[in-house]
Amino acid sequence: MENYKVKKLIGHEEIEQRVREVASEVNHDYAGKDPILAVVLKGGFVFAADLVRMLDVPFTIEFVGTSSYDGAVSSGDIRITKDLDISITDRHLLLVEDIVDTGLTLHVLCDLFEQRKPRSITIATMLLKDIERPFDLPLGYVGFGVPNKFVVGYGLDYNERYRGLPYIGYIESNTVGE
Ligand code: IMP
Repeated sequence: MENYKVKKLIGHEEIEQRVREVASEVNHDYAGKDPILAVVLKGGFVFAADLVRMLDVPFTIEFVGTSSYDGAVSSGDIRITKDLDISITDRHLLLVEDIVDTGLTLHVLCDLFEQRKPRSITIATMLLKDIERPFDLPLGYVGFGVPNKFVVGYGLDYNERYRGLPYIGYIESNTVGE
């Protein structure tokens, strides 16, 4: 496996500070609501792990798996690889995601979960790519906006590499495929 050049975009201290701010909003907004936090695998696990340790409201953690990406290229075909294990009917659902790129994954997930009649569906995403998207997503919490580059680190991978980086960076395009 080649090693590409990763340029730092957001450092770990900045991430920690922002997650703290998001957590404090979630604590405020979900007081008394006992939400289900559905972590979108795989990438959402790092953000979720940091976020839940800063929450003081009760919550239930769940995981949902999707796949669509092969390397840096979207196939546009979303598959549910792991469904939630519990009912979300009449519950408040907070989807915890690493990044919203085209928005297709969350659009498909929201459509699917909507049919199960939850009380509410809201998205908490660490990153939001700066692109136009045709979907109207319930984006309640956004960590950072990022440019339209392939980003890695803090849960995000390129062919399963870089998920463990404590910062967020992007792969310099002239090093991809070297
Ligand atoms: P979307 O459906 O296009 O919004 O993309 C959803 C998923 O694709 C994210 O949850 C990520 O797992 C992956 N993804 C999209 N953009 C990137 C990126 O820049 N780096 C790493 N993974 C990405």
